[in-house]
Amino acid sequence: MTFLPEPFLAPAPPPQPRPLGTASFVWTAMRNPIEIWGERAYREPILRDDWLKVPTIVVSDPQAIRYCLVENASNYAMQPLRQRVLRPMLRDGLLTAEGELWRRTRRAMAPVFTPRNIGGLAAVMAERSDRFAEGLGRREGVRDAAHEMTLLTYDILQATLFTDAIAGEPAEFARAMDDFLARMGRIDPLDLLDAPAFLPRIGRLLGRRSVAYFRRLIAETAERRRLALADDPAGAPRDLLTLLLQTDGLKPSEVEDNIITFIGAGHETTARALGWTLFLLSQAPAERDKVERELDERLAHLPDPREWADALPHTRAAFEEAMRLYPPAPSLNRMAVEADRVAGLDIPAGATLLVMPWLVHRHERLWERPGHFLPERFLPENRGRIDRYGYIPFGVGPRVCIGASFALQEGVIALACLLRHLRFDYAGARPPHPVQKITIQPRGGLPMRVSRRHRTT
Ligand code: HEM
Repeated sequence: MTFLPEPFLAPAPPPQPRPLGTASFVWTAMRNPIEIWGERAYREPILRDDWLKVPTIVVSDPQAIRYCLVENASNYAMQPLRQRVLRPMLRDGLLTAEGELWRRTRRAMAPVFTPRNIGGLAAVMAERSDRFAEGLGRREGVRDAAHEMTLLTYDILQATLFTDAIAGEPAEFARAMDDFLARMGRIDPLDLLDAPAFLPRIGRLLGRRSVAYFRRLIAETAERRRLALADDPAGAPRDLLTLLLQTDGLKPSEVEDNIITFIGAGHETTARALGWTLFLLSQAPAERDKVERELDERLAHLPDPREWADALPHTRAAFEEAMRLYPPAPSLNRMAVEADRVAGLDIPAGATLLVMPWLVHRHERLWERPGHFLPERFLPENRGRIDRYGYIPFGVGPRVCIGASFALQEGVIALACLLRHLRFDYAGARPPHPVQKITIQPRGGLPMRVSRRHRTT
């Protein structure tokens, strides 16, 4: 690979020079967990550390990842803390279901996410992204690109999920959803301390009414569609809601749980990936040129947006490289059900197993110049050099993200629509600082100057 001009070094917290004491470990883990790691974590294939007395194994070797998450996946259950935090909100949705319920739901949902169905949503994704880009172009100036991208992915998600046919006023629905999302990832200190379930979690109790309200809106939205489908099956929109309602094997409450899960899992993740891509491109003019030239030369000959993910390799590579450097889901958390032995290390039953895309994607053994933004790694001619288990923004194994091709298609389409007309220049006084709060977010947002751009050809 050639490295001229000098590639951009993406901002990241420096590794800890020495192990943290208990108090600073807890403080750092609560503020920004990606700051706890020392240099060894970016160098060693597997590590054991005992955190607050729980044996914790950090697996970064691709073959060991494959073993734990694919070959012996049934021995690694979802981590209890993750479940305690997410299950009250997402209930029996796919992300939090386990055992037989998960198997049945995953099987029932497979037909929803076929390439044909996802491709069928591409035109809506492009139409919404174009409309959004046009609106943004009319508001030239400095905008928080991180926030703007959540508005765009929300609009795309509700268009592809419901085709705008929601219960209640749109503003009221959006407010209820915002409130729901703000509560979703909150960890109660009692959960961290593993306190018994009968002790009330105050934050969750306070949020109960607004969560119930959001659920009611979702239930009403689904019920209206059920009636519309019964009335005129051919006339109903072919969106995710219709596809979910037409699957065999999901009860009405499960359909609702999964709609809520899609909103929880599929909106902020994609927005983060888009925001970081815009930032990285703004810092790497040579890479941005390649993307702009590609869009100017090719888009006019590509009327069908379902082809874009394959036909725009530079745009796609920038998006995939951004997800390497800033994986929207930075941590996959499991618990060993039975004792095991992985890469020469004994794993006791009950141990926490962490597979951290954040570490794997920046691992010295797996990547040349791991901290640098080099989209060419993901061009078709170089892709073969990337280990299948060393690049895992969507996870791997039976619990791999069911929305991966939806998200990739959406990411490329959104970038193409934004960057064919607009340019984003970073306007912050300091580089953005990545913070792990379920997703990897830029602390304080991404202030970017938005302007209309001239075609390169
Ligand atoms: C860039 C965007 C996205 C990223 C980076 C992402 C990442 C992930 C990852 C890493 C997992 C596996 C978690 C684990 O193993 O613990 C996952 C699971 C999941 N994702 Fe995504 N996701 C994205 C977009 C979406 C979208 C758009 C949807 C839905 C429309 C979605 C729905 C789900 C669901 C339902 C699961 C649970 C699958 C299961 O457990 O069987 N995701 N996602």
